[in-house]
Amino acid sequence: MRKLIDLPEQNSEQALDQDQRNRPAKKSKGQTGQNMKHESAEKHVTGKAVYVDDMPEYPNQLHIAVGGSQHAHAKIKSIDLTSVRETLGVVDVITVHDVPGHVDIGPVFSGDPVLVEELCEYIGQPIFAVAADTMDIAKAAVAKAKIEYDVLEPILTVEKALEDKFFVRPTHQLVRGDAAKALADAPNRIQGHQHVNGQEHFYLEGQVCSVMPTEDGGMKVYSSTQHPTEVQKLVAEVIDVSINKVQVEIRRMGGGFGGKETQAAPLACIAAIVANKTRRPVKYRMSRTDDMVMTGKRHPFFNTYDVAFDEQGIMMGSNIMVAGNCGNSPDLSDAIVDRAMFHSDNAYYLNNTKVVGHRCKTHTTSNTAYRGFGGPQGVILGELMMDDIARHLGEDPLTIRKRNLYGIKHDHIRTADGEVDERNQTHYGQIVEDNVLPELIAELETTSDYWKRREEIKAFNANSPFLKKGLSLTPVKFGISFTVQFLNQAGALVHVYTDGSIHLNHGGTEMGQGLFLKVAQVVAEEFQVDLDNIQVSATNTETVPNTSPTAASSGTDLNGMAARDACLRIKAGMVKFAAEHYGSDGDKAQEENVRFDNNQVVIVKDSGAEEIIPFADFVQQAYMGRVPLSSTGFYKTPKIHYDRASGQGRPFYYYANGASVSEVLVDTLTGESRLVRTDILHDVGRSLNPAIDKGQIEGAFIQGMGWLTTEELKWNDKGRLMSNGPATYKIPAVGDAPFEFNVNLLKDRPNGEETIYRSKAVGEPPFMLGISVWSAIRDAVASLADYKYGAQMDTPATPECVLRSVQDTKDHVRANKEQKA
Ligand code: MTE
Ligand code: MOS
Repeated sequence: MRKLIDLPEQNSEQALDQDQRNRPAKKSKGQTGQNMKHESAEKHVTGKAVYVDDMPEYPNQLHIAVGGSQHAHAKIKSIDLTSVRETLGVVDVITVHDVPGHVDIGPVFSGDPVLVEELCEYIGQPIFAVAADTMDIAKAAVAKAKIEYDVLEPILTVEKALEDKFFVRPTHQLVRGDAAKALADAPNRIQGHQHVNGQEHFYLEGQVCSVMPTEDGGMKVYSSTQHPTEVQKLVAEVIDVSINKVQVEIRRMGGGFGGKETQAAPLACIAAIVANKTRRPVKYRMSRTDDMVMTGKRHPFFNTYDVAFDEQGIMMGSNIMVAGNCGNSPDLSDAIVDRAMFHSDNAYYLNNTKVVGHRCKTHTTSNTAYRGFGGPQGVILGELMMDDIARHLGEDPLTIRKRNLYGIKHDHIRTADGEVDERNQTHYGQIVEDNVLPELIAELETTSDYWKRREEIKAFNANSPFLKKGLSLTPVKFGISFTVQFLNQAGALVHVYTDGSIHLNHGGTEMGQGLFLKVAQVVAEEFQVDLDNIQVSATNTETVPNTSPTAASSGTDLNGMAARDACLRIKAGMVKFAAEHYGSDGDKAQEENVRFDNNQVVIVKDSGAEEIIPFADFVQQAYMGRVPLSSTGFYKTPKIHYDRASGQGRPFYYYANGASVSEVLVDTLTGESRLVRTDILHDVGRSLNPAIDKGQIEGAFIQGMGWLTTEELKWNDKGRLMSNGPATYKIPAVGDAPFEFNVNLLKDRPNGEETIYRSKAVGEPPFMLGISVWSAIRDAVASLADYKYGAQMDTPATPECVLRSVQDTKDHVRANKEQKA
């Protein structure tokens, strides 16, 4: 079994492993593997970090407020904006008729008009925009619009959309073996369903952009976006100029979490249309309420399963349905529901299965990317099945989970042809290579004292009539790569200046996750110089073009590799120069004997004599020797391929894994719950920065827990979002963190694939570890039925929801007793 380590103290810049990479004994500061604080940590906490809204305003800058539909489904009969225009301080008002270029700004498929002409499909859908001297004036003017509607019946639930086959994209399915036969023949068979609610991103910095018309008829755009290239393209399209006339820049976001992958573009487009028309700079910052009402969220899902299993609880066949509530337009929903379908197995081998994914259309805002990108909504179905099978058989859920893991061979499991199934291939054909989960779970089982605590909890519950404890261990297996293949590419630009300082730029965006730092550490590693020698600059479409969104957790994998490629190119020229320059006195030097070492360049000549030159001096000499000191870099992910028509291939370069054990205390009289303790063991391969990785794991876990326990999106029967601010929508606060929180990284397990220094992506996978909290609450409730009944428990498991499960369980117990009597 592999050994675990505790992380070194946050601030000790201690290396985790020095062996494998052949590092010099004396190291420069801040290379990969070291705990370095976020590059903007001090600026964040002192308020010096500049976000788009903090940038100095131009003297004649206009501010935008947008008027949105008051009905979820309606046709506009007439619009009267006279009083809006007449408001003192209003400079311009635009409607769809003022758009010079494309009206549809759908990112992948059409369906997202920048401003509505006639058909309104959700409450808040933008109809017109007001530009005024101040935001308050613009807002006040918006309220004066007179719009008459023909109100139509809205479709607001997944169930209704399923009934009407009202979809934004066609239904898709993944099939392996014969699910129907396996289900019919099986000794055990159960069904279940769950409603999984959506989630508001609640980035601290809301959606915002600032645009300035340029002298060439283009736009300079500052946008809080995860996808500058898409903002650039869409702005160019709406104002009808070529892409090279638009420049988009973003230094940092105050959180994105997927909510700024496509949702930032509409603001930039509206602001650009106004700026283009008025030739004045324009800022558009949404209020928190507008942001919550107008922009997309995590998809709510309705999931069902029908599963067959043997006496050991090993799955033999299944019918699975995941139905995403996509809202009114496709946006990224095709890929999001695909990811839910890919991840409905979570970590478990799905023999004979049919997984059907629906893209339901409702008259609500268009749902979008959110940490995990549909994965969590699929994973939680897999975990529901595990818990329900365990209750059916009266076994501990951990036992059932372990038996169903990929890679665990069971002799009695055979395919239809009678061959022993290898149990390491997913239902979409990808082989689960380098599977760390069996070991990782075994390790966590021990370090968290799972079985001892299980007994203690049972004893506690037996003596506690109302307060019940629950415990659950849930794993995660998350596929890393964009499932849309072309997105798996990145570019970078590195300059070395004559004083030895280095400038780094790449296509990734910084949203708090530490990407800029990690990529800078890669550059420090390559040149073996101190980290503070490297300056990272804002993401800018004129510096590195045609970039992918910073998403799918692949920011470091892609941009780290691209930056490394740029460094290698510069180094190749430097090394050649060093060998020639220092080998000229008769004692030659070979290129392989030039090395970068602790802020120096070391040249070992054929005689064995060494020349040691400080990096800065060497760079100056290389410059005088006319060596190029700047390079672009490029990377594309190898090995991936996927044929969507057959549902077969290798969509993911590799999987990221982890597991968590959560213990909760539930008050069965009020439905309130409290997270007592969580132990996490997570695999980040060979960590580039353990402190940052640990922060990502903690944050993701808490965000996942919030999704499943307290964050409740509520719409009324007209389709109006009622939970539209922090007073009605409860994200976790510091007091919701577990009393005891043990987070560890799996040790000595470099990525099996050749990622950047064999690290693994970390951004999204640990989000799904929050599922252990939901499962533990359900476990506490199951104690009321001697762990033999899995009550219906939708998400979030708010007190009301938990009380319903308690009641459901008590009713079940009573009905059982009456039956026996
Ligand atoms: N961490 C912070 N602090 N803020 C964020 O907005 N977004 C998450 C994750 N971690 C996010 C975050 C999401 S949704 C993704 S896809 C990844 O970071 C993106 O960054 P990466 O690819 O560089 O990990
Ligand atoms: Mo993350 S949801 O891929 O931006």
